[in-house]
Amino acid sequence: MLSRFQLARLRAFRKRAPSPVEKEPVASARVVCIASGKGGTGKSIIATNLAVIRARQGERVLLVDFDSGLANAHLLLGLAPHHDLGHVMEGTVGPREALVEGPHGLKLLSGGVGRQALVNPTRRELDRLFKALRPLEDEFDLVIIDHGAGMAYGTIAHLAATSTLLLVTNHEVTALSDAYALYKRAHMVNEHIRVGVVINRAPDERMAHSGWERFRRASQQFLGVVPDLVGWVPADVAVEHSVQLRVPVTISAPESAAGQAIQRIASWGPIDHARTASAFYEKARRALR
Ligand SMILES: Nc1ncnc2c1ncn2[C@@H]1O[C@H](COP(=O)(O)OP(=O)(O)O)[C@@H](O)[C@H]1O
Ligand SMILES: [Mg+2]
Repeated sequence: MLSRFQLARLRAFRKRAPSPVEKEPVASARVVCIASGKGGTGKSIIATNLAVIRARQGERVLLVDFDSGLANAHLLLGLAPHHDLGHVMEGTVGPREALVEGPHGLKLLSGGVGRQALVNPTRRELDRLFKALRPLEDEFDLVIIDHGAGMAYGTIAHLAATSTLLLVTNHEVTALSDAYALYKRAHMVNEHIRVGVVINRAPDERMAHSGWERFRRASQQFLGVVPDLVGWVPADVAVEHSVQLRVPVTISAPESAAGQAIQRIASWGPIDHARTASAFYEKARRALR
């Protein structure tokens, strides 16, 4: 039999140690954000193809088109969703009902086109949206979030919460400078963030590398940290054709130069470790406060 003293200690221990059901649930999905400073750098091309490649490899992939109000991932995937993030934010449909199935079983949560509610959501609305999306994390292996250009409030909340960011830029000075501004901002809100740079639509390897060198030098000099160079993707008519066809280039022309380059980008190691200690959408909600 336990003494009174032992019983008291046991009770105190039970109080301190949360039972498994009380613990914060461990998120099952890895989350990768895809962003850029400037618009039109190729985020959605990279995001949709990354989703396709990872789904083809057998992962349960969710692509969230967070380009609020100007979504186009559904077009690039040849899908016609009935619902979008706006409906989920309003609470008129549940997050699962809003999903559409794409190539290789990937699921898309569309961003909505021209929906005012999504263009400038309040903190409260974003909080409601993130809360609604939280359960989806347990149902996927990989969540890829395609952002709009720039530093919208919702994007910054995502960057504060994510472990991993793919920064898509072009080799031009304007795109590089905007990408650098976003990189700097990402580090301000999240000191542990892992960032990989993709130089997209480059005329040739030399231009891609000189663009990367410029980015690397500025990061080293002014921030004292340098992101990874994930890879570069050539300007390729196969991408333009794929957009016309509404079939991602890694399906329509997997052997094309761009298709091969994106395939290599999809094997960037940090994508396999893009997990944080607590759930992504819970961290994003905390970042709103
Ligand atoms: N590597 C590439 N080669 C040729 N065209 C490209 C390439 N990447 C992107 N594009 C073109 O640029 C357009 C914009 O790309 P998109 O991914 O929608 O940009 P973002 O999402 O950054 O605004 C695409 O519709 C496509 O026609
Ligand atoms: Mg886009």
